[in-house]
Amino acid sequence: MNRRQVRLALPLAAAFAAILAAAVPAAAGAQTSRADNGLARTPPMGWNSWNHFGCDVSARLVREVADAMAANGMRDAGYAYVTIDDCWQVARDARGVLIADSARFPGGMKPLADYVHAKGLKFGIYTDAGRKTCQGRPGSYGHEALDARTFAGWGVDYVKVDWCWADGLDARTQYATMRDALLAAGRPIVFSICEWGENRPWEWGPGTGNLWRTTDDISDNWNSLLSNVNISMQFATAARPGAWNDPDMLEVGNGGMTRDEYRAHFSLWAMMAAPLIAGNDVRQLSDSTRRAGETRDILLNREVIAVDQDSIGRQAIVVQSPHPDLQVWARPLADGARAVLLFNRAPVQTTIHADWRRVGIRTKTARVRDLWAHKELGVLDGYSAMVPAHGVVMLRVTPIDDR
Ligand code: GLA
Repeated sequence: MNRRQVRLALPLAAAFAAILAAAVPAAAGAQTSRADNGLARTPPMGWNSWNHFGCDVSARLVREVADAMAANGMRDAGYAYVTIDDCWQVARDARGVLIADSARFPGGMKPLADYVHAKGLKFGIYTDAGRKTCQGRPGSYGHEALDARTFAGWGVDYVKVDWCWADGLDARTQYATMRDALLAAGRPIVFSICEWGENRPWEWGPGTGNLWRTTDDISDNWNSLLSNVNISMQFATAARPGAWNDPDMLEVGNGGMTRDEYRAHFSLWAMMAAPLIAGNDVRQLSDSTRRAGETRDILLNREVIAVDQDSIGRQAIVVQSPHPDLQVWARPLADGARAVLLFNRAPVQTTIHADWRRVGIRTKTARVRDLWAHKELGVLDGYSAMVPAHGVVMLRVTPIDDR
């Protein structure tokens, strides 16, 4: 693998200075580009096999996941794409067409896509812009047009394109080749760029794909989450309808973090207008265990999802940081309200205060709703709350014109 650590991130201190100096920025200009396939007007939502199942993918798993998502409320909450990550492909045939593992995917991909579609969901698949995938399966380099046509023929709605085995290749060029191949294939396909933020994709991603990874792979722990947040938060101005920063898939429900940490994870992704791609075993979501209940309350929190999916698509920035571990994040919403996150990165509970002016509220008072307690908190001229260790309080703050 030609994986490298992300080296492009600004030092955090410099990033903070820049962020704190900025007011909530004006909307990124309404740019259209050749990438504009009209898709992903809000951040994509769905499920992907990698975080929980790794290479252990099969048609049976995908069918069971689709069944679960249709039954457990996920589909109705907006989770649409069911994506098979690496390891489904084994070789190419004499004509160069990718062949799926026949033991794991008997019948191939077309019937599986049909099954997922019949459940009212969309079907996603994975390839690599280099010579091989990260797990050594055939990559799409030199086969872009054929692979795009193959995917379109199978009924694929979403393609994640990785960046292993790409030594000597130029990311911008290769992803543009894949973009053009997908556009030429004649089926609407969301294009997910996955080069881990190594080639400044926030600069060319909006002209190439619908989302681009900003970071190395997430793991199911707090430090990994913070590291991805620290990076992805720097590129807020690149996000816009159709084009999103991707700090990687969700770990919610995989067991490595506490309930408060997973709430923070989900809230931060929603504030950052990040794709919400569940990475857990969603077949267990309806279990009667405490853990399943907590996971359900997070992944199906419609008030938090509504922030992520807000139509103006503005990624939050940090507007107050009284201490490096304490942050207030804000993002403007389509109806004039602000989503506000009190974020405690420290391992002890602490009070955090949100100041309306810093949050971008110009009226003296505002109506405050707590999006985790699902409760109206009243009409207030600012808000202070005790925030749990490694936790958040997430609010919707609506200005009241009281002049
Ligand atoms: C890379 C990607 C991951 C996953 C694996 C699969 O590490 O960043 O998201 O797709 O490859 O091999």
